[in-house]
Amino acid sequence: MRSVLCSLTPWLLTELNGNSKCYALKIVSSEPTKTEPLVSREDFPLLRKRTIEGRSINYLDSAATTLKPQIVIDAILNFYEHSCGNIHRGDHTLSREASDLFEEARHSVARFIGAFSQEVVFTSGTSDGLNLVADGLRLEKSHNIVVSELDHHSNILPWMAHCEVRFLPVDESGRTDVSRLGALMDDNTKLVSLGHVSNVTGAINDVAAATGIAHARGVPVCIDAAQSVPHIPVDVVSLDCDFLVFSGHKLLGPSGIGALYIKENAGRTFHPRRVGGGTPDHVRKDGYDLKELPYRLEVGTPNIEGAIGMAAAIEYLDAIGMDRVAEHDAKLSDKMQELFGDCERFYMLGPKNPEHKLAVASLVPRKDVVSVGSIGHFLSDSRKIMARSGTHCAHPYFESLAVQGSIRLSPYVYSGEADLCEALEAINFILGR
Ligand code: ALA
Repeated sequence: MRSVLCSLTPWLLTELNGNSKCYALKIVSSEPTKTEPLVSREDFPLLRKRTIEGRSINYLDSAATTLKPQIVIDAILNFYEHSCGNIHRGDHTLSREASDLFEEARHSVARFIGAFSQEVVFTSGTSDGLNLVADGLRLEKSHNIVVSELDHHSNILPWMAHCEVRFLPVDESGRTDVSRLGALMDDNTKLVSLGHVSNVTGAINDVAAATGIAHARGVPVCIDAAQSVPHIPVDVVSLDCDFLVFSGHKLLGPSGIGALYIKENAGRTFHPRRVGGGTPDHVRKDGYDLKELPYRLEVGTPNIEGAIGMAAAIEYLDAIGMDRVAEHDAKLSDKMQELFGDCERFYMLGPKNPEHKLAVASLVPRKDVVSVGSIGHFLSDSRKIMARSGTHCAHPYFESLAVQGSIRLSPYVYSGEADLCEALEAINFILGR
């Protein structure tokens, strides 16, 4: 047994057994008064080791992608070094080991969102999952899909490629106005697909209310949970959604892997557009029979190490506890409102009520003295603060606001109040010059 003792936040001790994937947490001191990072930065090699021009990094671009803890890196390395084989195709030891690890990973992902294993399809990420749903629904030009104006392009383009897309507006509270849903649907509405949490503002949409309205009309619901699953507990049964998608790389896992939840029976008629290795049960010279879900949608050799890395990330988050992750996010969100909510040189997009949002701050300069791209460069190159600038793959939202773009700060479990204060000082400095 190999044991790694990570250095500690004041209250958190993480002990990792790399082989059995068993993590134990102990609370070793009382609640800190200031919002410190929730986990030890020592767990993250990039924060521990990487410097630029001799300075460590303040990483505030977690909505784009998260940093990876050592246990995720180790899980992937361990697969390459000990169990590298293809899955579901061989009887030899390595193939069986790889298959077991892959299916265990599916089980971890399913448990994390309250699903059954057979309801979880591994994808290459959120966009891939949404494209699979679009393909499965066999959309036609006469059909329509309802999304939100606040949604990421990944929840717009897969539908727009096939049919009409109708947009719910954003209400005064900064959240999607789901009360308008009934008026947007008609007999040709094949799906309501909504972002759970906005990647631009962190707004938490009332997807449960939307699901109630859509289901009352017999319309299925898909939730883009790319920005919610990493930050708050998400349970597909209580959400009552038919489909839900998210990515591994936004929850401390590797990129190129994600999950599509398909409620039992919701994908019964799904016939994939992409077929090939891994998907058929039997192939004749004149045709083929496909395997059941989820396997019929996982064409070709999948991202086996990605699934294993994603499961390791989920175990890391589970060991902390998603309630604690959400609590930490709420503290950062409160702090953001306090720091960025009423500033002379910029304003913050989205909900003013921190209870309506997660910890994302999208800041728009009040005067056009410097572009958000230049602010992003300055933060990075002069202060080593990594933040995204621009329109964050959400053109319709920015168009509706008639705003050119924003500088976005998105912290995570390795971020604390001091990181936000440092960003505030730097932004005020560049805008005040
Ligand atoms: N969806 C990612 C972001 O918001 C790429 O930055």
